[in-house]
Amino acid sequence: MSDAHTRRVQEQFGGSAGAYVASPLHAAGEDLERLLAWGAARRGDRVLDVATGGGHTALAFAGIARRVVAYDLTEPMLQAARGHLQARGAANVGFVAGDAGALPFRDGSFDIVTCRTAAHHFADVGAAVRQIHRVLTAGGTLLLQDILGHDDSEASAFILEVERRRDPSHVRSYRTAEWKAFLRAAGLTVMDDFVIWKAREWDEWTGRMRMTAEARGELEAFVRRAPDRCRAAFDFKLTPDRVVSFTDRQILLRADRD
Ligand SMILES: C[S@@+](CC[C@H](N)C(=O)[O-])C[C@H]1O[C@@H](n2cnc3c(N)ncnc32)[C@H](O)[C@@H]1O
Repeated sequence: MSDAHTRRVQEQFGGSAGAYVASPLHAAGEDLERLLAWGAARRGDRVLDVATGGGHTALAFAGIARRVVAYDLTEPMLQAARGHLQARGAANVGFVAGDAGALPFRDGSFDIVTCRTAAHHFADVGAAVRQIHRVLTAGGTLLLQDILGHDDSEASAFILEVERRRDPSHVRSYRTAEWKAFLRAAGLTVMDDFVIWKAREWDEWTGRMRMTAEARGELEAFVRRAPDRCRAAFDFKLTPDRVVSFTDRQILLRADRD
């Protein structure tokens, strides 16, 4: 990953660590329940949570695994996750800093790798998936969730601009076929996949990334100027004076290493 992109991620998330620990959208949801159900069925002893953020996925898996490693590029985020998990009494979680594209673990170290709401920040998703494949044991499983890319190019360009104005470290989100190609190319076999909808409350979503009032005003004007069909694709709810919410789709994938 380039130094400039690493710095962008660290700047964005370093100052927002507390907000990610507190975020209800990260603390729970159908997506986390599904990943956990897949994990419980797989009964993995050793779990790696890539891009752990506030540690919500690591915490959930700490309840079903012997040992969890929470891994993230942003040190202040890892510190916040450590405080969060210690306060919740999760004693079987270790914390390691680094890039998803260069995992500092031996081949075959983990039974399960989780990666939730994070891959759209990776500069090179293919490299991250190859690393995940390498650190998985034979028969191990990747449990992945991320924002799903839109099939319509105009809607896709619209939401990419919204995302990047809110968070310059957003790279892009991928469609189901793109995900399957990344996983297949790395040697992982997709066993299960599905899509869910997730609503974003605008004030919380923009506030969590500490947007200035000016930048937020410009973003809201951009959303209002966009073609109706782009807003409709993400179910944007607007009143005459504010943006209330929008909804995007999330992909969930379970993929095994042969
Ligand atoms: C939205 S948070 C993750 C949420 C978390 N997985 C959860 O379930 O609550 C995104 C995280 O990805 C991390 N991140 C972004 N790019 C990364 C990379 N290349 N390697 C490791 N972590 C990365 C950021 O530092 C941030 O903490």
